[in-house]
Amino acid sequence: MPKVEIMPSILAADIGNLEQAVRQCEIAGADQIHLDVMDGVFVPNISMGPAVCEMVNRVTDLPINTHLMLLRPQNYIEAFAKAGSDTILIHIEATCDVLHTLRTIRDFGCGAGLTINPPTPVESIFKTLESGRVDEVLVMSVNPGFGGQSYIEEAETKVAEVRRRYPGIMISIDGGIDLETVKPAAAHGANLFVAGTSLFKAPDMKEAITQMRTNAEEQYGKKL
Ligand code: DX5
Ligand code: ZN
Repeated sequence: MPKVEIMPSILAADIGNLEQAVRQCEIAGADQIHLDVMDGVFVPNISMGPAVCEMVNRVTDLPINTHLMLLRPQNYIEAFAKAGSDTILIHIEATCDVLHTLRTIRDFGCGAGLTINPPTPVESIFKTLESGRVDEVLVMSVNPGFGGQSYIEEAETKVAEVRRRYPGIMISIDGGIDLETVKPAAAHGANLFVAGTSLFKAPDMKEAITQMRTNAEEQYGKKL
């Protein structure tokens, strides 16, 4: 079983206390910090830039998982790599040379991730995956742009299809993940879980992360 990891999304944190939110995630046992970067074009919202990434990098040693919801991610790889990202994820739906951009991400020493939106058929990423240039596949379980949306369970079929083809690859799922939805997501083969609202609204984040990890480990692969 690939290692199960929980990645809080600080999009759901109090924007006035972002530093504290990062420390809170670390103390609560998070495995990575997920950073949601939005340009107001690829998605109908604007969020955080490289300066926030730098802050996270300064505050914690946890890996930074940077999710670029940008129309032209190729223009920002260097900035986010230099700001301390460990993995940089681009979208298959972006307007860029995906293979080339994935290679650029690795050239900067980061893990390369490929993200797929709910309406996009899973077949559209297979050719890119065959290139061997992808370290992490991020399956969106909401339409990107906002935290706090409901989990779209159709994402599970995509997760399972990717997992059957690539037993060792990192598969993350993002959107509406909580202590319940983490179970079917893991059962279909996801091993990395992005969670914003459910973790930041939990009465005790440490308990929530621990339980989320346990639930995922118990269910992993059961629906494959
Ligand atoms: C959505 C973002 C997600 C979001 C998840 O556009 O990519 O990472 O923050 O938030 P929740 O867990 O609240 O759905
Ligand atoms: Zn995200």
